[in-house]
Amino acid sequence: MPKHKLTSAPKPLDLDVRPGQSVELLKQLHILTREGKLNQDSRRKLKQVYHLFQFIEKLLLELPASESGPTLADHGAGKSYLGFIIYDLFFKALGQGTIYGIETRSELVESSKALAQKLGFERMRFLNVSVAESTQSDQLPAQIDVVTALHACDTATDDAIAFGLQKKARYMVLVPCCQAELARALNQNKALNLQRTPLAELWRHPLHTREVGSQLTNVLRCLYLESKGYQVTVTELVGWEHSMKNELILAKYTGQKKRASGERLLALLKEFGVEGMMGARYPLVGPHALEAFADRRI
Ligand SMILES: C[S@@+](CC[C@H](N)C(=O)[O-])C[C@H]1O[C@@H](n2cnc3c(N)ncnc32)[C@H](O)[C@@H]1O
Repeated sequence: MPKHKLTSAPKPLDLDVRPGQSVELLKQLHILTREGKLNQDSRRKLKQVYHLFQFIEKLLLELPASESGPTLADHGAGKSYLGFIIYDLFFKALGQGTIYGIETRSELVESSKALAQKLGFERMRFLNVSVAESTQSDQLPAQIDVVTALHACDTATDDAIAFGLQKKARYMVLVPCCQAELARALNQNKALNLQRTPLAELWRHPLHTREVGSQLTNVLRCLYLESKGYQVTVTELVGWEHSMKNELILAKYTGQKKRASGERLLALLKEFGVEGMMGARYPLVGPHALEAFADRRI
């Protein structure tokens, strides 16, 4: 299958400023000072985003060629730092394809729009809607190739997964942020669970509730993606030494829906006493998992 050709692909990463890269963008993102010198504080941030870009670039190069080029939606975009760098280093030279930034803070959406206009990045769009709302937005195409969510707050990562499933994303690139929803659910029946299973010791102390909640959330997200036909890789986003949230979940659509993953997901929810979350967070797990659950096979 033909792939997107990027004739002037930027060279990897020894330099902070790559060939062909917009110096004006780096100034606007405060990576370069007005005099064009590297701002040391921001240099680290640039390296971090380059690091994530390395993963995303490989996926973009794997996409089959299409008439209008690749589509990428970045959820919880913030200042759209990631989106701008991806556009500058990939989409600009490609001459086609569109990046969509989804962000609830209107002032960030407005400033991103203004910057994209100033730089002539005409195939960048910014939507002032929540991740959940974006699934229904008529400003987005029916299919999106790549979904990214970099430290999108709380359940916004879950909403980004739901978006990716609905838009039949070929790839999802998720770096989750703190997630409180599951920790709240773990809190609810704590005493009951402590009587039921020694496992509940894992979340008896509030600090552990938060940590186990966060860890379990990401495990469930991976199982959910696998049950919906994605091959999942979990790795460390090395280079993010100053960020506590360093887990990178890469999901590639293969179409092979793993029944066992759906069943495991449900079994885990049950083991942790939070099966009430099933309908809200994992609505698309197949009926086979529910049947296995009802038959007490899991
Ligand atoms: C921690 S910031 C990360 C920004 C950016 N991705 C980055 O890494 O630089 C999270 C951003 O997500 C936005 N956000 C939080 N929940 C959201 C939601 N449900 N829908 C859209 N944006 C959301 C916040 O306004 C904030 O700008």
